[in-house]
Amino acid sequence: MCGIVGYIGKRQAYPVLVKGLHRLEYRGYDSAGVALISESGSLNVYKSQGKVSDLEDTAQNRDLTGCIGIAHTRWATHGEPGFLNAHPHLSQSGRLAIVHNGIIENYAALREMLLDHGYTFRSETDTEVVVQLIEYLQEKDGLPFVDSVQRALQMVEGSYAVAVLDIRRPDTIVAARKGSPLVVGAGDDEFFLGSDASPIVGYTDRVIYLDDEDMVVLRQGTDITLMSIRGERKTPQIRRVTMDVSQLEKGGYDHFMLKEICEQPQSLRSCLQSVRQTLTGPDAEHVFSLLEQADRVIITACGTSWHAGLVAKYAIERMARVPVEVDYASEFRYRQPVINPGDVVIAVSQSGETADTLAAIGMARKQGAKVLSVCNVIGSSIPRSSDVVVYTMAGPEIGVASTKAFTAQAATLTMLAIVWGHRRGTVSGQDYDSLMSEMDTLPELVGRVLDRKDDVRAMAQTLSFAPSCLYIGRGCNYPVALEGALKLKEISYIHAEGYPAAEMKHGPIALISQDMPVVTVATESAIYDKLVSNVQEIRARQGRVMAVVTEGDTEVARMADRCVAVPQVTECLSPILNIVPLQLLSYYVACLKGCDVDQPRNLAKSVTVE
Ligand code: AGP
Repeated sequence: MCGIVGYIGKRQAYPVLVKGLHRLEYRGYDSAGVALISESGSLNVYKSQGKVSDLEDTAQNRDLTGCIGIAHTRWATHGEPGFLNAHPHLSQSGRLAIVHNGIIENYAALREMLLDHGYTFRSETDTEVVVQLIEYLQEKDGLPFVDSVQRALQMVEGSYAVAVLDIRRPDTIVAARKGSPLVVGAGDDEFFLGSDASPIVGYTDRVIYLDDEDMVVLRQGTDITLMSIRGERKTPQIRRVTMDVSQLEKGGYDHFMLKEICEQPQSLRSCLQSVRQTLTGPDAEHVFSLLEQADRVIITACGTSWHAGLVAKYAIERMARVPVEVDYASEFRYRQPVINPGDVVIAVSQSGETADTLAAIGMARKQGAKVLSVCNVIGSSIPRSSDVVVYTMAGPEIGVASTKAFTAQAATLTMLAIVWGHRRGTVSGQDYDSLMSEMDTLPELVGRVLDRKDDVRAMAQTLSFAPSCLYIGRGCNYPVALEGALKLKEISYIHAEGYPAAEMKHGPIALISQDMPVVTVATESAIYDKLVSNVQEIRARQGRVMAVVTEGDTEVARMADRCVAVPQVTECLSPILNIVPLQLLSYYVACLKGCDVDQPRNLAKSVTVE
């Protein structure tokens, strides 16, 4: 949550910062702001409530000169999302400016202490406390810029990625991280900062992923100085980042979400190739030497990634015959779970920065569990805190509603189940060969589902008038129902719930009426007949049924008000196809309702605070 950008070098900073903010806007869009040390030596701060485009309007015709600056796009934690709480925040004298992503837990005590020393506060944020504290330390102890930031960070508790400017040091940015991500880009005589690498690519491919409690001093025309917040010097590890800049643009689509839904044939192809290499190539022993110690697997994740974890439970239990529990990271980390030496934790995350998932794996490792992460963003915090990582390689996902990341996670975890089952002897050689080749056909089959957009649009017309909606499925398509419901509620604000179809009779069937459409995932499966009965029960109560069926289906298709057909695949692979029409459905409903698809209200893509 919140995105940070920084620049120091020979270019004008403002265009670099604003472009970077646009790329990080998925992290929050409550307000945006920029601080520049101008050519005349003044510290100019411009901010605005709302999106980065609002900031651009505000900053028009102002002094935007300067080759050094920091910027921020906010998802509000402390204080409402108004102008006063927008970053950057200034110190009392106006000499220092800060941008911050994270939460300062002891801010109330520090604020009290600073109030006692005559400091006043303009905002309700925890961030303002940090910049005032830095100034206080400069004034009280005569500390120079770098030392004052360092001392302040030793005093704050909580999580942060910060970047600080001091008008008296117009050649320096000081930045640091603990618990929130920060990446430095090293160009020729210029440096970039970003909450991820997206504001940096296109300028340089040389990046340094800061570790927790790292602090970096970026000085114009010199090298980077990297140290811990306790002052120990470190050698920067420069890595090459390969990101296709076109993946960060909408590429002719109206929304990132639609682009990302439509690029699933390519993202799945890239995912399957890479994951097959990881699970069956020379590195496979890293993965399986860890998994093969497992008496039990605990999958932990949040949101859509949790749904992919639930798909994995069905696949791993069915194929590898190892018991699997799936837990929300936010619950797992606090419920004092029993973790045994034979437990392996699988953490699933698109961003690799979700605070609860990160904390959950930290807790599990402390208690002796090994952690394998399934992650999309290379070099992010979750893989770096895991014993082994399998990257999903779906490419950058910008839309807040996760789509291509889900299909890549489900494909990755299903392939892991197949390969693991084969190694354990619970999947025969013949089944292994046929499942692995069937997986290779998935990208093309997803392409065929995408050709059914007109059928999905017709469904969307009906759903867009519904005040509420149920999604049902069974077996490995129960998580698909949950994920379909999440997609609808997060971008169209229509209340939706997912249920295992047979649970309807235990309560939710009481809700059935003409006004409560039921979206049913009813593709072929071992218990297709049971699902047909569940659909009949809904029809018998005048419920309206929208169904995802297998091509050639007549039974459910006959009962449903509207249908979309998907190609037939083996049941354990079906979630990867069946979710695609539900992604499109939520997209079209949101568009019909005029919702902001890529930036739904109250949300941010990366939940880096708990
Ligand atoms: C779903 O569309 C959301 N973007 C959200 O539920 C997301 O899946 C969740 O916050 C977890 O994020 P992660 O995969 O980056 O850890």
